[in-house]
Amino acid sequence: MDTHDLKQKYGIIGNNPLLERAVDIARQVAPTDLNVVINGESGTGKEVFPQIIHYLSSRKHGPYIAVNCGAIPEGTIDSELFGHEKGSFTGATEARKGYFEVANGGTIFLDEVGELPLATQARLLRVLEAGEYIKVGSSKVQKTDVRVVAASNINFHQALEKGKFRADLYYRLNTVPVYLPPLRERKEDIHLLFRKFANDFAAKYKMPVVKLTGDAEQVLVNYFWPGNIRQLKNITEQISIIERTKEINADVLLKYLPQYSSSNVPSVITAHESSAFNSNDRDLIFKVVRDMKGELIELKKVVYDLMSATGKVAPGSIEDMHLLNRMYPGEIDSSGGLKIHPSVIQNNPNAQTIEVEETLSLQDKEIDMIRKALRKHKGKRKYAAKELGISERTLYRKINEYQIEE
Ligand SMILES: Nc1ncnc2c1ncn2[C@@H]1O[C@H](COP(=O)(O)OP(=O)(O)O)[C@@H](O)[C@H]1O
Ligand SMILES: [Mg+2]
Repeated sequence: MDTHDLKQKYGIIGNNPLLERAVDIARQVAPTDLNVVINGESGTGKEVFPQIIHYLSSRKHGPYIAVNCGAIPEGTIDSELFGHEKGSFTGATEARKGYFEVANGGTIFLDEVGELPLATQARLLRVLEAGEYIKVGSSKVQKTDVRVVAASNINFHQALEKGKFRADLYYRLNTVPVYLPPLRERKEDIHLLFRKFANDFAAKYKMPVVKLTGDAEQVLVNYFWPGNIRQLKNITEQISIIERTKEINADVLLKYLPQYSSSNVPSVITAHESSAFNSNDRDLIFKVVRDMKGELIELKKVVYDLMSATGKVAPGSIEDMHLLNRMYPGEIDSSGGLKIHPSVIQNNPNAQTIEVEETLSLQDKEIDMIRKALRKHKGKRKYAAKELGISERTLYRKINEYQIEE
């Protein structure tokens, strides 16, 4: 099934390139058994993606279970997910199977995964790493074979940042990320979605289809849509039911759109973004960069191949790599371990002049940075830590971990 058919089958409306990409990634990752995280603000349409992934996988005849982690009270979540033995707590009059047992051989969708308590995260990590779990009140290790697709919204990144979500679990879950853009960044799709919903509600309530004047259309397209597609759908329903006139003008439409001033929702997002990496410990950033490194190298290769194919550069010269690095800053340069694809080297008569080697890794760079800072501050950790933007405790740990001599 191609992307177009998939969209049709699952009622996904829109032609935004990022949306297309999300569907495409879901389609491609489905037959692998990798875990996936669907990222996107609330109401952006995450819910169908785990279903697509399940039904296009070899697990399609197995169970599919959707769990909203944010809706289950902290006191019962372990028992719901992993089950419990009879008598394991007051009220546990019967043994109970958990979702991970029921979903054996299938897929679990963990919606709002950022809401999981830390203790539950530890259990989940064990399931992902070893396929093992222990029921509440039991000591027996049990096996299960479940693929996890999770969804997260912007709160998730706050949870990560504040240490409320384990980074190791995050990397386990997020082997392939799928990103859904907010509606305000999909302006080309807004009117399309409105018309679809207007038609659906007209049919449902047996009423004429509501239409917008040109002015109203402008308002619709330029609204902030903090609740994304869910909000657009709700508002279209309200208008369809309440407004008797067939054509809605801007004034009427505005009555249905809550005003979000700049001090409202957008500022929450800005505040979150600006504080995202103020964290004392940069481990996380290094991990992220390490992940990105792989993708970047792939990307560069593609561009490079393309440029060689179109004759923009002669294949294989070091200068070309530098050129690419200038074109795509942000940058893993040759000292960051840029790998040149073997095929490029084979086609290149000067192949022997190219050193294919994993030079300084990011870890080496980190060590290098720490050494330099220590040297500069004559071994005074307090000042070196300050310069590196990490806490003294973290610096101390890194010195021990990397056995950096002072
Ligand atoms: N591309 C789309 N086309 C049509 N309807 C959509 C689309 N994306 C989302 N919806 C609808 O919008 C609502 C919210 O989507 P949902 O998947 O629940 O959002 P999320 O899980 O990201 O909060 C649902 O009613 C869904 O059917
Ligand atoms: Mg949802």
